[in-house]
Amino acid sequence: MKSRQRKSKHEPLACLILAAGKGTRMNSVKNKVLHTLLGVPMAAYAVERARDIGADAIVTVLGHQKDEVADVLQTRFGPGSITVVEQKEQKGTGHAVRLGLKPLARFDGLVVILYGDVPLLRAETLHTLVETASKTGCLAMLTSVVRDPTGYGRVVRDDEGKIREVVEHRDATHAQHRIAEVNAGIYAAPAEFLRKATARISARNAQGEYYLTDIIALAAESIGVASVHVAAEEMSGVNDRAQLVIAEKILCMRIVRRHMSHATFRAPKQVYVEATVTIEPDAEIGRNVVLRGRTHVGAFARIEDGVILTNTQVGKGAHLLPYCVASDAAIGEYAKVGPFAHLRPGTELGPEVHVGNFVETKKTRLGRGSKANHLTYLGDTIVGEKVNVGAGTITCNYNGYEKRQTIIEDGAFIGSDTQLVAPVRVGKRAVVAAGATIVDDVRPGALAISRIPCKQVDGYADRVAQRYPQKTPAKSSTKSSG
Ligand code: UD1
Ligand code: CA
Repeated sequence: MKSRQRKSKHEPLACLILAAGKGTRMNSVKNKVLHTLLGVPMAAYAVERARDIGADAIVTVLGHQKDEVADVLQTRFGPGSITVVEQKEQKGTGHAVRLGLKPLARFDGLVVILYGDVPLLRAETLHTLVETASKTGCLAMLTSVVRDPTGYGRVVRDDEGKIREVVEHRDATHAQHRIAEVNAGIYAAPAEFLRKATARISARNAQGEYYLTDIIALAAESIGVASVHVAAEEMSGVNDRAQLVIAEKILCMRIVRRHMSHATFRAPKQVYVEATVTIEPDAEIGRNVVLRGRTHVGAFARIEDGVILTNTQVGKGAHLLPYCVASDAAIGEYAKVGPFAHLRPGTELGPEVHVGNFVETKKTRLGRGSKANHLTYLGDTIVGEKVNVGAGTITCNYNGYEKRQTIIEDGAFIGSDTQLVAPVRVGKRAVVAAGATIVDDVRPGALAISRIPCKQVDGYADRVAQRYPQKTPAKSSTKSSG
């Protein structure tokens, strides 16, 4: 996908990304292009498209919250990967491009103009645009035929079908308002042409702005204009939060559809899958599953309803029962987890491990075939192979100042309701009796038992009853005392 090659290898390519606007309709303290879709800030989509087509230079025109936007992009794509130009006042797209061309003063090649708020644009579409511009030598532009063209610039063609100009909605005549072909606002043109053309445009129009669209008429009279059709969905900009989540959903469906060629999604419209996730053949994904970051799902794995995985590796044939949450964890082959397990960062479950309901793990490794099936906390723990961790086992790993380690060696058996006070080691095949508080290392093969002797008082129930002659005990208590 991220191939940087393109047909005309010798023609240098630069991308201008316009994103100086504030995004007023988001009603947010955060700039519009910093809002995320599938965990990725909106502006980064444009940069990724620029990289997809192998841009040699990427220039962003920023205005509102310039430093915040620049920071996010430089952090994501590396320092120096993007040149930032400030547009203090938003005087129009033509003005923005004129400023954006400044660092490209000596650049001689094709310039592609993109927007920071059009995340649905596909790499393939952009490839076609670049190829068209480079083959024809014309200005190439994306156009679309839409049901409601209100607000868009209209593409005006002559009798032969050649594009003559683009007229903005507010400057268009009644007849032009009926034109259904609209300007997507995305172009590829020679830098030299853009420099000359943007120097010639004026702000004498209904909005008093420098319209970039005025360059279309200039191109028609000189280098010519070629158009590439784009689906309306792809060119739609994100202006408010409703459009943001609709666009996110569309992006998500594209990703899921790709995985559906080889994995089963029981409810494809009801999952959230980020672009960085990988899924191997014959995996099965349930309803309301969330897969984030560098999560990998192995072949034949089953991820049941409501599972949320972040940067988590799921081994081949592993089975995650409903409502497990895992982050920065690795789950071994044929392991079985949940329902309701919480695997926190640094969890490594070996092959065939079982981790059951209400079990929490953190910085913990469980060796092959070990089990912790019920109500347990394992933190900073190394568990060997074939260990049984009984219900209600708790590692006391924190003394208020530092985290300390527990080691449970191969074949050990930890009885229910045990506290392991770290640092502590339970030796190979050792047995810890139920209810123990383990503060010292347990020798291999030994039994560790810490129990207060249980005393029994005969006739106690009758003695208590005599103290309350008027009353009968509550029903529930008579039932449960057995
Ligand atoms: C523009 C086109 C219109 C096209 C439409 C497609 C012009 C004059 N019109 O209109 O023909 O149908 O896109 O969506 O170009 N920006 C700046 N600095 C500015 C102005 C805008 O960086 O001074 C950025 C905005 O942040 C935005 C993009 O450019 O990302 C588009 O600007 P916008 O004002 O939304 O253009 P439209 O009026 O939608
Ligand atoms: Ca717009």
